[in-house]
Amino acid sequence: MGMLRTLRAVVRLRRPERSRSVRRLRSAANVEDLRRMARRRLPAGVFDYIDGGAEDESALRRNTGSFAAVGFRPRVLRGLGEMDTSTTLLGRPLAFPLVLAPTGFTRIADPAGELAVLRAAGRAGIPFTLSTMGTRSIEECAAAASADARLWFQVYAWRDRDLIRSMVERAAAAGFEAICLTVDTAMLGRRERDVRRGLTLPPEIGPGTFLDGLRHPGWTWRFLRSDPIRFANVEGAGSDRVGGAPGDGSTAVDLSAYMNSQFDHGLSWKDVGWLRSIWDGPVLVKGIQTVADAVLAVEHGVDAVVLSNHGGRQLDGAPAPFDLVPEVVDAVGGRTEVICDGGVRRGSDIVKAVAAGATATMGGRLFLYALAAAGEEGVDHVLELLRSGTERTMALVGASSVDELGAELLEWS
Ligand code: GLV
Repeated sequence: MGMLRTLRAVVRLRRPERSRSVRRLRSAANVEDLRRMARRRLPAGVFDYIDGGAEDESALRRNTGSFAAVGFRPRVLRGLGEMDTSTTLLGRPLAFPLVLAPTGFTRIADPAGELAVLRAAGRAGIPFTLSTMGTRSIEECAAAASADARLWFQVYAWRDRDLIRSMVERAAAAGFEAICLTVDTAMLGRRERDVRRGLTLPPEIGPGTFLDGLRHPGWTWRFLRSDPIRFANVEGAGSDRVGGAPGDGSTAVDLSAYMNSQFDHGLSWKDVGWLRSIWDGPVLVKGIQTVADAVLAVEHGVDAVVLSNHGGRQLDGAPAPFDLVPEVVDAVGGRTEVICDGGVRRGSDIVKAVAAGATATMGGRLFLYALAAAGEEGVDHVLELLRSGTERTMALVGASSVDELGAELLEWS
């Protein structure tokens, strides 16, 4: 009896959480946990499309490996003031140095798709980038966003320049802040997991995927019940036909055949000037992978370079963006803003990138795993993990504000 009383005094029983999704989320301590949850929840082909990289996936591994290879030289006893993770990017405030990357087909992770992600980004005080291959339209996104949300629109070099012009005009009319031109997709990288699975997008529930669908009834039920997944921004515009399918995503297509037929690999720096001429706001170029191209980007007046190898999905063997940060910042820092995209899984990665000289980081899979694992609440959860991880790491290295993060805090091996 006495023992029970003592036990009761020291153990406070937590009331059991009723909602299954909240219970599951509470047990997700990091991005890798959310990735595992996503893997259980998604059909294998859909998970592999999100998770996979090009060819041997060495660029994919290098992206995360580059962060793991760098440690800290923490300072202590610095009399830290109130912690402040905020910074500015393109002249506007950012709650912490992260931007959500453009991702195609976001609704295959969860039908709420882009709208869930952009609402979570708005609550977290960071920008959301809608992809040309997004599955919600520019207008739907703008309507779902809060008044102070920062929305960016990502542009691919579609052959049909009138289509680009009309999308850019729509983005301007809808109040988007910036245009982000992706330049690392002269052709689509070969994602061999997708080749093996014969993935089409949107996914088809055909004989090959039927069993997989049965094994993931939750996803399949949500997928079949929600409105069809389309390339909502290019819809109706595709006069080209790909393998008999209209080029607007209204019919399932083989992604590489589709993209390769629509992409213009004649894209050049001249086109950056053209983009500038049709858009008044900031222009970012995403997919810069050398100092030489970062310098050219500055010479062509871009407002920010996004160091990126497309999450290891394009050129295998491409450099890890984080490794490029010091030399690029050396060459162009102060003349443009530098965003480091790829491999960010923790707040400590964000702190490392900023200490190395980046203005901010960008990430895609980190929120796709969370969206697939637990929908909009999942995205809120991962953004809070990353924000609090940034704050904690800053405190542990002895910095109470982003301005205090410098290269002297890093230990390169
Ligand atoms: C599209 O851009 C992709 O990386 O799949």
